[in-house]
Amino acid sequence: ETTGKMETLIPTINRLQEVFQTVGTEIIQLPQIVVVGTQSSGKSSVLESLVGRDFLPRGSGIVTRRPLVLQLVNVAPQQERLKNEHGNGLKQNIQNSYTGVKAEEWGTFLHCKNQIFTDFLEIRKEIEAETERTSGDNKGITCEPIYLKIFSPKVLNLTLVDLPGIIKVPVGDQPENIEAQVQEMILSFISNPNSLILAVSPANSDLATSDALKLAREVDPDGRRTLLVVSKLDLMDAGTDALEVLLGRVIPVRLGIIGVVNRSQHDINTQKSLEDSIKDEHVFLQRHYPSLVSRAGSRYLAKTLSKLLMHHIRDCLPELKTRVTVLISQYQARLNSYGQPVEDHSATLLQIVTKFATDYCNTIEGTARHIQTSELCGGARICY
Ligand code: GDP
Ligand code: NA
Ligand code: MG
Repeated sequence: ETTGKMETLIPTINRLQEVFQTVGTEIIQLPQIVVVGTQSSGKSSVLESLVGRDFLPRGSGIVTRRPLVLQLVNVAPQQERLKNEHGNGLKQNIQNSYTGVKAEEWGTFLHCKNQIFTDFLEIRKEIEAETERTSGDNKGITCEPIYLKIFSPKVLNLTLVDLPGIIKVPVGDQPENIEAQVQEMILSFISNPNSLILAVSPANSDLATSDALKLAREVDPDGRRTLLVVSKLDLMDAGTDALEVLLGRVIPVRLGIIGVVNRSQHDINTQKSLEDSIKDEHVFLQRHYPSLVSRAGSRYLAKTLSKLLMHHIRDCLPELKTRVTVLISQYQARLNSYGQPVEDHSATLLQIVTKFATDYCNTIEGTARHIQTSELCGGARICY
């Protein structure tokens, strides 16, 4: 539920992946989603709500001290995986090759090979422990990423990157040039043209001074791959609101500006669930931003990201078709060279791809109609 239209995308992408596995070529590379912002602006909170699980260290002060490259991997539901395990082994493919794991969702880290984390609390503890191992326990920051994979039937094959916040003044063990160091680290991730930048700016500070937007503009001056997330709508001074900002009248952002309310520190301390948080966010938006309720909030953010990903895939389709056509003719040529009567496998393959392309375009159109993001994101395209 929390992932919104991501769920529509999952079966589609899976089908696509199967077809491309058949022809032995790689799938479209989806853009990597990177969060950028000042310290404690709510970056980790925003990512967590996108994934729909509690597992990222969050909190006031400096918490994220190493980049976290979070690779989401779609797997078949446990039931199916176990069924295949007992059936013939031939059915194994990327989706269900994790037959040994008796859990619906789990995680693995690059730095602890062979260890499977089924408890998301343990995942958070491991991120914290691994951060301390390289960055010490006195606010130090390292540029070397932690690599985490989350396997689940509920996710898209997508990479998200959580980054330390932009820092102005060194504290603890941080070197004098920490601002430049962190800035360079952030730029190294967001300058990748295949990354989508989620610039997170808190509503209770001036957008004109947003370091997140400033950095994003350095690498994406036309704003073709930057989305602005305005966090902490609930923490604005009495008598003020973010309406003008959210309507893009203060600073326009091409792909859109989306206001959210994440869990507060008190909510974290009292272990408020993500589900309750999303409900309360909705109530808050209804009360304070009734005119924007359908284009704000964490769910809408997830939907918007799905839509941007679909646009990306749609833009990749012609190139994919070309690739498949080339593969087919190569395959045909190889078969011909055997000098035997050619069994028409290529025709079957072409059928699959054509059917896929047709179904796929229908799915995209159907979903796009449903989303109706109106002016904020209308007609937006990410350029790669
Ligand atoms: P990061 O440093 O940018 O990753 O920010 P975190 O996600 O760790 O959040 C920093 C602090 O701000 C935590 O205490 C969060 O509970 C709090 N926080 C984040 N977003 C919001 C929000 O929308 N509203 C409120 N009230 N607190 C928030
Ligand atoms: Na923080
Ligand atoms: Mg963080």
